[in-house]
Amino acid sequence: MNEYKTILVTGGAGFIGSNFVKYMLENHPQTKIVNLDLLTYAGNLENLNDIEENENYVFVKGDIRDKELVKNLFDEYDFDAVVNFAAESHVDRSIEEPEIFLTTNILGTQNLLDNAKAHWQIGTDNEGYPIYRDNVRFHQVSTDEVYGALGKEGMFTEETPLSPNSPYSASKASADMISRAYNNTFKLPVTITRCSNNYGPYQFPEKLIPLMIGNVLELKDLPIYGDGMQIRDWLHVKDHCSGIDTVLHHGKDGEVYNIGGNNEKANIEIVDLIIENTKKDLEENTYEGIDTNPDDITEDLKIHVKDRLGHDKRYAIDNTKITSELGWSPSYTFEDGIVETINWYLENQDWLDNVRSGDYQAYYENMYSKK
Ligand code: NAD
Ligand code: DAU
Repeated sequence: MNEYKTILVTGGAGFIGSNFVKYMLENHPQTKIVNLDLLTYAGNLENLNDIEENENYVFVKGDIRDKELVKNLFDEYDFDAVVNFAAESHVDRSIEEPEIFLTTNILGTQNLLDNAKAHWQIGTDNEGYPIYRDNVRFHQVSTDEVYGALGKEGMFTEETPLSPNSPYSASKASADMISRAYNNTFKLPVTITRCSNNYGPYQFPEKLIPLMIGNVLELKDLPIYGDGMQIRDWLHVKDHCSGIDTVLHHGKDGEVYNIGGNNEKANIEIVDLIIENTKKDLEENTYEGIDTNPDDITEDLKIHVKDRLGHDKRYAIDNTKITSELGWSPSYTFEDGIVETINWYLENQDWLDNVRSGDYQAYYENMYSKK
């Protein structure tokens, strides 16, 4: 495997993208990273403060749907790989306003594919298929939600038929399908990874874990959808980054790889762990700007609210393919990862306050007043 010279990372100011940019700069010092991000509500340059001076890193504010911009970036930087994180990512928002999910997640992906195809093509074979220069790859970051929902038994494998249930997952499944089609029809070197729920530093607090940590610190209600018995399969974001890196460098063209760490938990268990570990952390440590009394953190903060429409009951990833074929394995246990993550949010209260200022309050009140 050769190192890539220059990688276009899209959505690199979001949760997973910013962790990935840092992971790559640390682990592949010969590779330049160009981060294209529109800085929507979910994009935050503060996530990248510590690497903004890195000479192998360039930030470009812009939209993956912008044809001229993406073409100009390919011309200027001559990317040899694309890792596409940019997306609208929150299921609840896709239920409120589906359209942006379709334009960003589907048409944005197609624009990137078109530009990669045009830039990397060096000829045409006798049958009319494009021929590409060596050592190029388009990697699409996808999700286990494209498979739909499981009952009590079974796991998602790469052979599980796609059966997305929310506007978000339908848009991600469409992006997978168009990526697959560019591999089949145009032989574009494409790989796809489908990962389970991520947690860790820099996650926007609309998502379960950071939302609950933030609410515990303010002694606000902890809104559990329905009975809280829905199951998600949690993976630390750094393990997701190492999984993508493994596929990017060692995966086979045209293949899909599931990424997951065999860590199923009911939502209510997650909330209980957050209550218990935040309380414990505050009993043992003091933090500037946090004056929450740990004695006030109790189970009484939990409330059950109206369920999410079409709520998927259970996700579980079978990771046999990536572990056996590519030798990847996760490094975090959930028990350590969740304690470290809670501690990160306590130590980075300013970050949490900044992202929760402005539009977040209005979003929160609008979303949760309906529940
Ligand atoms: P996020 O919402 O935190 O970040 C998304 C980023 O994309 C933001 O920085 C945003 O500004 C940017 N963006 C949005 N629209 C854009 C556009 N049109 N052009 C350029 N940039 C744009 O999302 P995340 O949780 O970090 O997820 C990243 C990717 O990983 C998504 O594709 C998501 O579907 C996938 N994924 C997420 C999870 C998870 O648990 N969070 C699990 C599996 C897969
Ligand atoms: O499985 C991968 C997916 O995980 C990614 O593709 C998505 O981008 C990511 O957002 C995530 O989707 P979920 O819908 O599973 O994540 P979320 O954090 O929104 O919710 C996790 C579970 O917690 C889900 O069953 C809904 C529930 N929930 C969530 C919130 C925000 C609550 O009970 N209360 C809440 O307030």
